[in-house]
Amino acid sequence: MIRVIKKIDEWKQLRNSEFFIDKKIGFVPTMGALHEAHASLIRKSWNENDITVVSIFINPTQFYDPDDFINYPITYDEDLKILNDESVDYLFYPEYQSLYPDNYKYKIVETEFSKILCGASRPGHFDGVLSVVMKLFNIIRPHKAYFGEKDYQQLKLIEGMVKAFFMDLKIIACPIVRAENGLALSSRNKRLSNNSQITASEFPLLLKQNLSVDQIKIQLEEKGFKVDYITELNGRRFGAVYLNNVRLIDNVEI
Ligand code: PAJ
Repeated sequence: MIRVIKKIDEWKQLRNSEFFIDKKIGFVPTMGALHEAHASLIRKSWNENDITVVSIFINPTQFYDPDDFINYPITYDEDLKILNDESVDYLFYPEYQSLYPDNYKYKIVETEFSKILCGASRPGHFDGVLSVVMKLFNIIRPHKAYFGEKDYQQLKLIEGMVKAFFMDLKIIACPIVRAENGLALSSRNKRLSNNSQITASEFPLLLKQNLSVDQIKIQLEEKGFKVDYITELNGRRFGAVYLNNVRLIDNVEI
């Protein structure tokens, strides 16, 4: 059975106990609404460590759009079942006040890469991500932490932060997990109707086509997507679109 830890002090006491001395800890930070992609990160951690800790915290400081925060799916009971099925040892499930005792007066800011792609249309998003991840790392003190390549920019920024602040842990990149129709799994997909899910699957298909960025944009718009960006950078093509107000992101190697 998984043990749910809500209080930072409770975790710290455990983490400092004798039981943990020679244990390798793998950590999978999430915002809940867990699906098969989260499970794939958890399995990787399970295989590579003695203890796997998952966190669920819908981090308000990384949401640019307040509606997106309010509508973020909460599926705690289902999440707990998945975590138990995957034999996760601990769920860290903190409250806002305990993670942000300073009410976000202090934050981690990256000044270049965080300003483009998803950072351009969502100012402050990556400050929120980096700040909460730094807090979680400092509390959990894992040996390895697992992040998905779906959020490629997030992954690279976290790798950069760990290097810049000489943090003593390893970031493990995990491949994108897709539905059968090619759509990258995402907690936000739960907000798409069945019909929209079918349209949404055109997004990854077009992203990997041998077309120019402009051609892809035009075709996406013709299919009803609102395009935030399609950008090629360092041998990858990145895209972010809205379908019925649901934001979808993806990236492919080119
Ligand atoms: P969340 O969206 O819940 O994602 C948790 C982890 O699962 C992230 O590392 C994300 O990249 C990975 N993930 C989600 N969908 C994936 C997919 N289809 N394939 C591969 N990996 C996938 O990302 C966050 O939460 C937050 O920003 C967080 C890092 C927890 C900070 O609040």
